[in-house]
Amino acid sequence: MSGPKLPKRYGWNTPVTAPGPAGGKMLRSLNSILKDPLTYLEQVWQEHGDVVQFPIPKPATYLISSPEGAREILVNQSKQTSKQTLQYNNLSLVTGEGLLTADTQAWRPRRRMLQPAFHQEMIALSEHHVTVGLTKLDNQWEELTQTGSAIVDIDHAMMSIALEITCGALFGVAIDDEVDEITSATLAALHGVVAKARNPLSLPMAIPTPGNLKMRRAISRLDKAVDSIIAARRSNLLLPEAPIRDMLDVLLDPDLEIPLTKQQIRDEIVTFIVAGHETVASALTWAWQLLITNPSEMQKLQLDPDSAKLVFDESLRLYPPAWIITRRTLSDITVDGFEIPANSLVIVSPWLVHRNSKAWESPDEFQPDRFSEGAPQLGYLPFGAGSRLCIGKEMARLEGSMILAHLAKNWQITAIHNEPVPIDASVTLRPIGGMPVRISRLVK
Ligand code: HEM
Repeated sequence: MSGPKLPKRYGWNTPVTAPGPAGGKMLRSLNSILKDPLTYLEQVWQEHGDVVQFPIPKPATYLISSPEGAREILVNQSKQTSKQTLQYNNLSLVTGEGLLTADTQAWRPRRRMLQPAFHQEMIALSEHHVTVGLTKLDNQWEELTQTGSAIVDIDHAMMSIALEITCGALFGVAIDDEVDEITSATLAALHGVVAKARNPLSLPMAIPTPGNLKMRRAISRLDKAVDSIIAARRSNLLLPEAPIRDMLDVLLDPDLEIPLTKQQIRDEIVTFIVAGHETVASALTWAWQLLITNPSEMQKLQLDPDSAKLVFDESLRLYPPAWIITRRTLSDITVDGFEIPANSLVIVSPWLVHRNSKAWESPDEFQPDRFSEGAPQLGYLPFGAGSRLCIGKEMARLEGSMILAHLAKNWQITAIHNEPVPIDASVTLRPIGGMPVRISRLVK
């Protein structure tokens, strides 16, 4: 391949081992990187290929977009990687050392402890909470559409219902009065996480900058929610009819080999609130966008509610809420024939892998039927892969498909304009300005 000769090192002795943009070019793109990172990543991938090295001296930073490369990082080399990355360090300002951000040593026993809470009965119990949430949403929308149709922000509706389901299924509490408070605190806290990641000059949390103060306020609102969840459970801890051992029972169990500290319990509850609802809501919001702009697929779903699983899987392919997954390498490894030295930052982007024509035919098209034989082994990682695979995957797929099937069957949901909805690639993919849609009741 001809082209400008690459420097051999980017400074701090960082060797150049893969193609990538030149330093000046990347610097000139800084604005678009910050404003629209998805488009920037796509451009870099198109221009330089499946393994790209950015001109960053420390840490050496790579973008991996091939199906095999993603598997190599997340599955085959999982023991040679860690979650000590800027992405997870910033997230832990909100979630502490919960399951999502914990590094290998702290993570392994915690995953072993929490995995049993995701048993079949709990997944079945989630089904009950989805039904409760949908009845409530039907009632709200019926009020709004008494005289015909109404405009609602479907993103807001998906955030609320997903939070209610998470809190009901994992912690056995109804949080009716606190839904808006908790969803807005989650969004504000995550906004702070991303703002910090995007600003190399951002100051530590202890310094009272306006951004830090806002983030601290959001975190203390989440802490308050944790307190009220625990108080609700403690007040009826002895009730004999508690049907199954849920997540909160596990976290509060005083008979654990090593009972969790107050801080550890708080970190897990916040982790599950954050990881368990914003992701599902983001997936559903984009699923609606895809259905609205593909009316024949909306019709298919209305006629065959069972196809909701395929719609949800395909929406997660095109709009994976976790659009980047990061790791730090603990030793030298090789990915797709390229050497990646120890201590590098590796970015695997499901957004790109899911658009890679090595794994997908017509990758840009919305075709739920492509999942009728199940998801492929390679090239599909909305829930990650390997040992750190999402613990809530089955719960999320159940929730997502039930909500899509029910609302499509009972409500006509249409666009209010033809403009593409701009994406904010934050911790998850968020629609800028929400996603207003027109709703009207279909025959009961
Ligand atoms: C569509 C919805 C969801 C998506 C797209 C999603 C995505 C992901 C991804 C990509 C990871 C792996 C991150 C990595 O490897 O660095 C992950 C991990 C995790 N997710 Fe989810 N998730 C979803 C729903 C949920 C739900 C419903 C829960 C909880 C009930 C949850 C809790 C977690 C936790 C605790 C982890 C960390 C697991 C571990 O490292 O052991 N997620 N999720």
